[in-house]
Amino acid sequence: MNSETPPATVTVQPASIPEGCAAWDRPGAAVRAIPMLSIVIALCSACGTPLPDAIAGFETRCIELTTDEVPPHDDDPHEGFKRVYACDLTLDQLVDETGATRRPFPEGTLIVKSSRRDGQDFSWLVATAHKEGGVWDWAEYTRNFVDEELRLIPAGPEVCVDCHRGAQSLDWIFTSYQPRQQ
Ligand code: HEC
Repeated sequence: MNSETPPATVTVQPASIPEGCAAWDRPGAAVRAIPMLSIVIALCSACGTPLPDAIAGFETRCIELTTDEVPPHDDDPHEGFKRVYACDLTLDQLVDETGATRRPFPEGTLIVKSSRRDGQDFSWLVATAHKEGGVWDWAEYTRNFVDEELRLIPAGPEVCVDCHRGAQSLDWIFTSYQPRQQ
């Protein structure tokens, strides 16, 4: 190789700024971001609401409808192994003399479904339906760890209602009181 060969020319490109980030360099971008941020915070003010005291303790104070855990199934909307409880009504209000579930459920009834994930022994999900003014009010609470509080998922009830419409003739509640072995 000839020592007089000119060195290869290296063109250094200026570092390119990704488009999204470049926007932050534009005057006023930070100022516009502040209202956006407060909207996000406002939307999330309900995330976090812990499971109300009126629902907590359902495993012991309510009547369990299921006798065994409902195992995961196809298209499971409430992933995991589930138990369903009826609260704030008496056994007589819930079940007739033949053992059939009385429907519609009385005003004030709270139905709770708790779900645990495979391999865990605590509920990671609690879904509720509370009858107020003749209509069910739907809510769902979740956590990932046993030492965390169950907290409200800020989802609209439409998704719940859409699917529970399948149980409309059963007062919107799929699960019935399951007979106990005497
Ligand atoms: C895709 C369908 C579907 C959606 C969406 C859905 N559910 Fe359910 N839900 C069911 C089924 C089916 C059961 C019966 C138990 C089972 O098979 O898991 C059930 C059970 C329940 C129960 C126990 C009472 C019952 O009906 O058996 C509650 C409470 C409940 N769901 C609340 C909710 C809430 C709250 C939401 C919305 C955040 C919701 N569900 C969304 C299908 C659905």
